[in-house]
Amino acid sequence: MVNKSFFLFCLVWRDKIDMRVKIRPVDPKDFKSIWLIERLSFKTPYSRSLLRYLMQCSHVFLVAELEGKVVGYVCGVIERREQVLGHIFSIAVHPEYRRMRIGTALMIEAINMLKRRGAQKIYLECRVSNIAAIKLYEKLGFRVTKRIKSYYRDGEDAYIMELEL
Ligand SMILES: CC(C)(COP(=O)(O)OP(=O)(O)OC[C@H]1O[C@@H](n2cnc3c(N)ncnc32)[C@H](O)[C@@H]1OP(=O)(O)O)[C@@H](O)C(=O)NCCC(=O)NCCS
Repeated sequence: MVNKSFFLFCLVWRDKIDMRVKIRPVDPKDFKSIWLIERLSFKTPYSRSLLRYLMQCSHVFLVAELEGKVVGYVCGVIERREQVLGHIFSIAVHPEYRRMRIGTALMIEAINMLKRRGAQKIYLECRVSNIAAIKLYEKLGFRVTKRIKSYYRDGEDAYIMELEL
């Protein structure tokens, strides 16, 4: 079943995203910028080696570029279970470039790419305190389906959020 709210959202929001923002596949030379964004964005950032691994091995790894500068990234994988699932592993936007709908643009492109690779549903984990991310995902049509106790190393719970495609 096609998720009508997601595709309507894409139509409406495409016009609201700054035309200068370019979403493109990651390139190895983007590593330094992504590593900086990662450290500025998360309490417990991924290690350099995990980030490099994700850049090479994720099914979808996209960056947002604005005037030649990498300002955000998203990565996701395809998981084959009873259903084909798209799993958004991580998304982050440089703090100086937030609230410009760059996160929205990255998510829309990542979801569409995972869908083209066969995903029937997209899911992700999110800290229960991460209001910015929860609001972004809800706007895209994701819904909370589960709460996992003490999912993160510091003991915080996670929401599992899902988008049916
Ligand atoms: C979550 C994150 C990626 C959002 O990126 P962004 O480019 O700022 O998001 P957008 O500008 O596309 O915002 C889309 C919508 O999300 C919501 N939103 C985004 N930031 C918000 C905030 N700080 N407070 C409340 N709502 C927020 C709003 O509804 C917004 O729509 P609006 O601008 O029309 O109000 C960014 O805040 C970030 O990098 N956070 C740190 C890393 C992180 O937490 N990643 C998610 C891990 S689960």
